Amino acid sequence: MDTTKKRIMTGDRPTGKLHLGHFVGSLSNRVKLQDEYNEFIMIANVQALTDNFDNPSKVADNIKELIMDYYSVGIDFNKAHVYIQSEVPQIHEIFVYLSNFVTIQQLSHNPTIKTELAQKKLEESTPLGFFYYPIHQCADILCVSADLVPVGKDQAPMVEDAREIARKFNSTYKVNVLHEPQALFGVEQNLPGIDGNAKMSKSLNNCIYLSDDDETLKKKIFSVFTDPSRVHATDPGKIEGNVAFIYHDYFNTNKKEVEDLKKRYKEGKVGDVEVKEKLFVALKTFLDPIREKRKEAEAKLPELLSTVISTSKEVSIEASKTVSEMKKAMKINFH
Ligand code: TRP
Repeated sequence: MDTTKKRIMTGDRPTGKLHLGHFVGSLSNRVKLQDEYNEFIMIANVQALTDNFDNPSKVADNIKELIMDYYSVGIDFNKAHVYIQSEVPQIHEIFVYLSNFVTIQQLSHNPTIKTELAQKKLEESTPLGFFYYPIHQCADILCVSADLVPVGKDQAPMVEDAREIARKFNSTYKVNVLHEPQALFGVEQNLPGIDGNAKMSKSLNNCIYLSDDDETLKKKIFSVFTDPSRVHATDPGKIEGNVAFIYHDYFNTNKKEVEDLKKRYKEGKVGDVEVKEKLFVALKTFLDPIREKRKEAEAKLPELLSTVISTSKEVSIEASKTVSEMKKAMKINFH
């Protein structure tokens, strides 16, 4: 393992295919950062089971989807460490040790937990696995001694928790074993869904997937939320909050065309159909090479999987160093 580069740690739960929101929000940055940093990308299959314990095939199948999605956007499995959580059981061991440093009250007030419990209507019957999830994530981060964790605003508390727990552990045993990570802000952004919701999200059913075919893509683009107050193509339209134009800004490389469309839209000189037809072409141009690479990934999936398994082994060795230092500090090392 390269020790000269700073370590970045991120991950995804394998619960579905990745979409444009993931691309804008995190994947494109992971690709950019994989040269400069020692990048750890974890497939959080154990945590995905929390919501899907009765449907393990779903999680197992989605590991493959995730690997193909990663490959298709340009994540290089020889640069970034892509690994599977369940192959690094030290994470669970570290989690148990960390759990002494967090109170039940603290977890009950955790904003992410509160929001998710309300969304899933689980306040009255919270599975323990769901409740301790924030601490388990701290173990993910601390086990590889991450320097940086790229997060959007909503995930910032996770990094703060990891820092606090690391500090408490170190000060309690007067050691310097757990490394305090820092949040890397500003690289995570939200892309709105096709329905105009601020976030593209599988559960909202408003996604364009990286692996959508042209027909699906076209259908979705023609349902994209534009300016609801505009009835006729001759009415002056609004650009702000108009999802079609937000997508144009992100994905259409022909900036002149976008400026011309915006100008005519504001003047009431272009219809939604032309805006969307051009958006379809832009997105097709953007997605074609990604879908091409996905086919490549499909063909060499066994090879990619075996790389992921051997990387997981390396990460596991790395994590066992952390475990061993922690055990020494807690006087439970007997070897
Ligand atoms: N919670 C992330 C998700 O919902 C996945 C994840 C698990 C993660 N552990 C992490 C992200 C540690 C960053 C750091 O997909």
